[in-house]
Amino acid sequence: MRSKNIDATWFEYERYGDADVLTRRTERLEPPTGDQVSVEVITTSINHTEVFLRNGNEPEWSVGPWPRRSGSDFAGIVTARGPLSSSFPVGAEVIGHVPAGAHATHLNVSSAALVAKPRNVTWETAGALYLAGATALDVLDDLHIGAGDTVVVSAAAGGVGSMQVQLAKRLGARVIGTCGERNFDYLRQLGIIPVRYGDDIVDRIRAVARGPVTAYIDNFGKDGADTAAALNVPTERYRSSLDRRDIELKLLEDDPAAIAHGTDLLGRLAEYAHVGAFRVLVSGLYPLDDITAAYEDLAKLHSRGKVVLATRPVTTYRGLRARDVHEAT
Ligand SMILES: NC(=O)c1ccc[n+]([C@@H]2O[C@H](COP(=O)([O-])OP(=O)(O)OC[C@H]3O[C@@H](n4cnc5c(N)ncnc54)[C@H](OP(=O)(O)O)[C@@H]3O)[C@@H](O)[C@H]2O)c1
Repeated sequence: MRSKNIDATWFEYERYGDADVLTRRTERLEPPTGDQVSVEVITTSINHTEVFLRNGNEPEWSVGPWPRRSGSDFAGIVTARGPLSSSFPVGAEVIGHVPAGAHATHLNVSSAALVAKPRNVTWETAGALYLAGATALDVLDDLHIGAGDTVVVSAAAGGVGSMQVQLAKRLGARVIGTCGERNFDYLRQLGIIPVRYGDDIVDRIRAVARGPVTAYIDNFGKDGADTAAALNVPTERYRSSLDRRDIELKLLEDDPAAIAHGTDLLGRLAEYAHVGAFRVLVSGLYPLDDITAAYEDLAKLHSRGKVVLATRPVTTYRGLRARDVHEAT
């Protein structure tokens, strides 16, 4: 079954640069081919790696010919099916991933890159899951985090960190998260032990660790290696920000094995969200057309949880947010 005459709007760029190189473009959506389905995107989210791809910080990485599209995470509703697609009927609510092009109102995507959206998972959560969540989970899998571990996660209140700390706790670890002081309450509510980053962090971690730190995940990429070494974390149980970079780029590859791996992680995340094993905090929700403002928010490096874009009406009113109160008083 196919829906006809749908106009798709997406964001693309023709040269490297800041978010202002993003151009809004609208064209008729092609019918889905092969195992593709057409999806009306309801929510999509933004990630630092997309910024690095867009601004030329990852020149080795090709996301196809110019102009290049933006965005990898989305959740939406199937509107049409290609001839070889059997997994998701028209009307199915799905969560998915693409190497690029998720910052859109509609897209065509292989069924292999989709999982069913559990009904009790909100659109805001669903659209925020893929790149940050899959990265978080992949690192935890790689380190075999589990009961008996005391793991330190840096940037613990950020997009990747906030999911990673909750999942690590769910896996049975004792979790110490580094963050700014305004995020202490947020992490404590999750059962995570907060520690302020900055000078003397090793002493502060030792003071709360109550024993050896068995693993260290550096999401931020500043002084993680030195801190982990000072805490005597075994080298094989330290993951750097560069390791994270490699994982994220792998999750954006479009060969069948990489897509299957990403979809497997996404399916597990959807199930974790379904059973309440973790909650995605969305501290910035923007209309898709405000994508530049959303990236400006992310660039401040203090967006608690995830920054999400929505295609359905979202208020453009911008008041004082909980995460900004600390600075404002
Ligand atoms: N190596 C790579 O290629 C690569 C790939 C992806 C991301 N990254 C980087 O990883 C970081 C986190 O990613 P994300 O997606 O979680 O970003 P995010 O959602 O923007 O979160 C940023 C987090 O960084 C924390 N932070 C700010 N200054 C810090 C500092 N000096 N030391 C330690 N933490 C600090 C913030 O904590 P508070 O708000 O509590 O202060 C915030 O929770 C970003 O800086 C991003 O650029 C690197």
